[in-house]
Amino acid sequence: MEKFVINGGRALDGDVAISGAKNAAVAIIPAVVLCDEPCRIENIPNISDVTLIGRILQEMGAEVKRINKSTLYIDPKGIETTSATSDLVRGMRASYYLLGALLGRSHSARVCLPGGCNFGARPIDLHLKGFAAMGARHELVNGAIIDVHSDYRLKGNHIYLDFASVGATINIMLAAVKAEGQTIIENAAKEPHIVDLANFLNSMGAQIRGAGTDTIKIRGVDFLHGVSYSIIPDQIEAGTYMCAAAATRGRVLVKNVTPKHLESITAKLREIGCEIKEFDEAVLVDATKRPLTRCNVKTMPHPGFPTDCQPQFAVLLTTVEGTSIINESVWDNRYQYVSELTLMGAHISVEGRLAIIEGGSRLSAAPVKASDLRAGAAMIIAGLCADGTTEVSSIQYIERGYEDIVEKLTNLGADIRKVYYEDHSGENSLRA
Ligand code: UD1
Repeated sequence: MEKFVINGGRALDGDVAISGAKNAAVAIIPAVVLCDEPCRIENIPNISDVTLIGRILQEMGAEVKRINKSTLYIDPKGIETTSATSDLVRGMRASYYLLGALLGRSHSARVCLPGGCNFGARPIDLHLKGFAAMGARHELVNGAIIDVHSDYRLKGNHIYLDFASVGATINIMLAAVKAEGQTIIENAAKEPHIVDLANFLNSMGAQIRGAGTDTIKIRGVDFLHGVSYSIIPDQIEAGTYMCAAAATRGRVLVKNVTPKHLESITAKLREIGCEIKEFDEAVLVDATKRPLTRCNVKTMPHPGFPTDCQPQFAVLLTTVEGTSIINESVWDNRYQYVSELTLMGAHISVEGRLAIIEGGSRLSAAPVKASDLRAGAAMIIAGLCADGTTEVSSIQYIERGYEDIVEKLTNLGADIRKVYYEDHSGENSLRA
C-alpha cells in the first residue's frame, strides 16, 4: 500500500504547471466511440482515471495507444460491441458516459453502473429522462447493469433538466450528436468541460451550439471525422494549488490555466486577503502580503464556486482568523473529510449542508485518510500547513485525479514523499 508523508510548515513558493482537465478527459475519451475515424487527443493528464477509461475502450475493441505522456491515439473502428460491463467499468463513475456514446453510435447501450449504492446517492434519473425523450427505453439488469436501447435511430427532442447536472448534460449531448433532427437541452450545465466536449465534437463535424449557456442545441449529423484535439487545463487542479498556496501563506504562479475558469476561486481568495494577479494563461497567488480573514462560501454549478474545490478551501479557512460558513448546495454529503481534519485540530461543525469553521487553528500532524479524490487533496493541504509529520493514506483516490502531485509540490518547496508500506492487521508499518 502507499501513503503520502508530509513534513508541514513550509510556505509554497515558485511555479506549477497545471495538467489537462480530468473531467474533460473522461468525457472526451468515451466520446471517441461516436467517431468514424481515429483521433489524437493531446494534453491528457497522466492519472489513473484516464488509464482506466482507455483500458475500457480497449476491452470494447478500440485501439488505444499512449503516444507520449500527454497524448492518446484512439482508433474506435474495431468497436463492435454495445456493452461495457467488465469490472473495470464498475471502477469509475465517468464510465457512464459510455451510455450516451454507445446510444449515439448504435442506439443501444448496456453499461455497468459504478457500484449499486451510488445509484441511490448519485442518481442518473436526469440522464435516463433525456434518453427516454429521444426514444430510448431503459431497464436495470440484475440491479447492476443499465440497458438503454431504441429500435430506431434516436430522435431529437426538447429536454428540460430539473437540475443543471454535468453528467446528464454530457450524456444527452453524446446521445444527440448523431440523432435525427434537433435536440435542445434547457437548464444545461455550463462547466468548462461541457464546452470542451462540445468543441471536440464540433471539431469532428458535430453541430452543437450554445455550450456554456443554459441552452444547448444539437443538430444530429451522420458522420464524425477523426481529429487532433487538445483538452483544456484542469480548473480543479489549478484551484487546489491556489488553495495550497494561500493555506501555507505562500506565493505561487499557477501556469497553463484559463483564468476565466478560475474566477469564482480567485474572487474568494481576494476576499480573504490574498493578492491575485491574472495573466493570459497563468494566475499568481500571493498570500504573503497581509493576514487572511474569514469568508462564507456557497458551492454552485458553474460559474459558481465549484463543489470540487470545497474541501480544499475548507482547509484554508481553518487557518484564517474568524468564523467562516460553507454551504454545500450541490451534494448532500460532502463533508466526510471533516472528521479527519478534526483529528488534526480543526474546529468544524457540520449542520446538514452547512459547515461552520472556527478559524485560526494551528493544525497538527496526524495519520489521516483520503475519503475521496478532493477530500484527499484537502488532507494534503492540511499536511502542508500542519506542525509535524502527517501521513495521508488511501492515496489511490488522489492519484485518480492529480498528475505528479509529489513532484509538483516538491518543486514548490514542500516536503512530501510517497511511501510504500505493508498493512499488518490494521497496523500501518512503514517500509521505505
Ligand atoms: C460531475 C463531476 C464531479 C462534480 C459534479 C458537480 C465529473 C466526472 N464529475 O459529477 O466531480 O462534483 O459534476 O460539479 O465530471 N443529480 C440528480 N439526478 C441526475 C444527475 C444528478 O439528482 O440524474 C444530482 C446529484 O445527485 C447532485 C447534483 O445533481 O446532487 C449534481 O450532479 P452532477 O452535476 O450530475 O454531477 P456529476 O456529473 O455526477
